[in-house]
Amino acid sequence: MKLNLAIVCGAVLALAIGSAVSQATVSKLQMTALTSPEDAVSARRLLMTTIGNNNDILHDTFDGYFEYSDREVRGRLDAISTMLLTFPHLYRGEPDVWTPEIEATDPARASHSLPLIWEDWDGFYAMATAAAETAFEASMTTDREKQRILIEDLEVQCESCHATYRRELPSVDFDELIGPANP
Ligand code: HEC
Repeated sequence: MKLNLAIVCGAVLALAIGSAVSQATVSKLQMTALTSPEDAVSARRLLMTTIGNNNDILHDTFDGYFEYSDREVRGRLDAISTMLLTFPHLYRGEPDVWTPEIEATDPARASHSLPLIWEDWDGFYAMATAAAETAFEASMTTDREKQRILIEDLEVQCESCHATYRRELPSVDFDELIGPANP
């Protein structure tokens, strides 16, 4: 199973890191991220946007707007699970700086991650893993009702992580911008 494998890999990695640190021989190259903080923010936001788009399609499917396909639903859930496992690895060591000026001048590069993520890294990481597990469990069943319930559970996990670790975003009323979708 993917998650078990991830845990085993994590344990092996932790051992490897532990021994490397204890020998104080971590090479400078290993410690240097080649991704700049700006690109890390951008990668994270793109990943979350795709998680959001997949999630929207799942909800629209269960709300009856799209034809239900077990293969598609489970494929999207599996992709969400993998992306949620990847997401925390796109954080750099230092908290991202956010100011109203950055938001106003370069909104696409402004991170909405709160400094609490860096202060409570374990809690944040656990939430990402728990949400990935829910998506993975839903991807492993062909029981449509069970999928629906787990997708609802996942939504609660998305929202609770955002409520804790994400900056409050100004909400955009799309109806005001482009008019209602089905007038
Ligand atoms: C472990 C915490 C966590 C979980 C779980 C989580 N998110 Fe996020 N999400 C974040 C954070 C933090 C950001 C802001 C990232 C940034 O800007 O640095 C974010 C940003 C987003 C964005 C905005 C992307 C952008 O920048 O335009 C969307 C959409 C989103 N999440 C959807 C979801 C959905 C849907 C789920 C559940 C399937 C989910 N998230 C689960 C923490 C989480």
